[in-house]
Amino acid sequence: MKRILVTGGTGYIGSHTTVELQNAGYEVIIVDNLSNSNAEIVGKIAKITGIRPEFVQADCIDSAALKQVFERYPGIEGVIHFAASKAVGESVEKPLLYYRNNIVSLLNILELMPDYGVKGLVFSSSCTIYGQPKKLPVDENAEIQPATSPYGNTKQINEEIIRDAIYSGAPYKSIVLRYFNPIGAHPSAEIGELPLGQPQNLVPIVTRTAAGVRKEMFVFGDDYNTPDGSCIRDYINVVDLSKAHVIAMDRILNSNSEKLEYFNLGTGRGLSVLELISLFEKSTGVKVPYKIVGRREGDIEQIWADPTRANRVLGWKAEESVEDTLRSAWEWQKRL
Ligand code: NAD
Ligand code: WQD
Repeated sequence: MKRILVTGGTGYIGSHTTVELQNAGYEVIIVDNLSNSNAEIVGKIAKITGIRPEFVQADCIDSAALKQVFERYPGIEGVIHFAASKAVGESVEKPLLYYRNNIVSLLNILELMPDYGVKGLVFSSSCTIYGQPKKLPVDENAEIQPATSPYGNTKQINEEIIRDAIYSGAPYKSIVLRYFNPIGAHPSAEIGELPLGQPQNLVPIVTRTAAGVRKEMFVFGDDYNTPDGSCIRDYINVVDLSKAHVIAMDRILNSNSEKLEYFNLGTGRGLSVLELISLFEKSTGVKVPYKIVGRREGDIEQIWADPTRANRVLGWKAEESVEDTLRSAWEWQKRL
């Protein structure tokens, strides 16, 4: 059984990916410092798959602690690196925390990988690196635009670090996955996006409003240059997204793929904020009271993926409908 280290594995995307890795026959070692998740997730993963992943509470910025993980679990073949701080607004207030966490963590991993014969890294990047693309849908060759937040900048710097390490002849491969907007939860409703702190992302706000935790929600702007005036995004089901990580790891370990590859992970379909709210109401039968307010500073007007490369090269495709995905987010909210 191939051993994979999943950093940030008790987090939102990491927990779903651990489930898919185990379903595909991989053995998973999770490292997480629980700064944005909790250890109970390990038991939830075990409940879904019947296998309890190994879990080490450790901080990826602590190189000695990471080294111990590699020592304790010999033969780790691949790393999927999710661990990062990800709140855009917070990164503007605490930039140094974001730079330290997101950059030092990656450096530590890349430095340790060759010592333990690790063959590859799958890295969580983001469509945020494209800014407002000139051409839509956006493919992997689109220009990378100056970051509008320290968080976004950490993803750009991370991508540069990986590129330079690989080009310098590092003895491992890497696949960089650029996620669009991950939403939804596992169909079992055992795992999903944990609302630690105030959620800033659209779907958790929609489900909390539907549940009455909030009286109403705000739609940030209806005067954009889009058909209904609200912003457009590409919302990708989290289980679909997770499956792409398994395929990427298979590709690194079992094929003679290039040393460094980039893939956009999205559905290829743009949805406006107002369309998403209305689809949520239709697919769950629950009303979401909302008010249109001014634009949110720093928002991109519209972006959606051209996922052709992932479809063609990885043989991966987003499969879940938005309706089913929104229903899964609602089931998860009810569980909370
Ligand atoms: P999340 O916060 O749910 O998961 C991240 C996990 O990493 C958490 O469990 C947290 O406790 C852990 N962590 C953070 N810093 C750590 C450290 N130094 N050492 C060990 N563990 C640490 O976030 P997520 O939504 O699952 O995101 C996973 C990755 O995907 C992140 O790199 C994020 O930047 C990236 N990403 C997320 C989105 C999104 O919208 N959710 C979009 C694009 C990219
Ligand atoms: C989606 C749309 C809002 C809340 C962020 C990060 C990005 C990436 C994904 C990690 C926007 C609108 C939202 C609300 C609203 N993360 N909205 N009312 O902005 O696309 O991207 O998460 O890499 O880096 O910036 O996602 O979910 O915050 O917003 O109208 O209460 O919903 O204006 O148009 P976004 P989001």
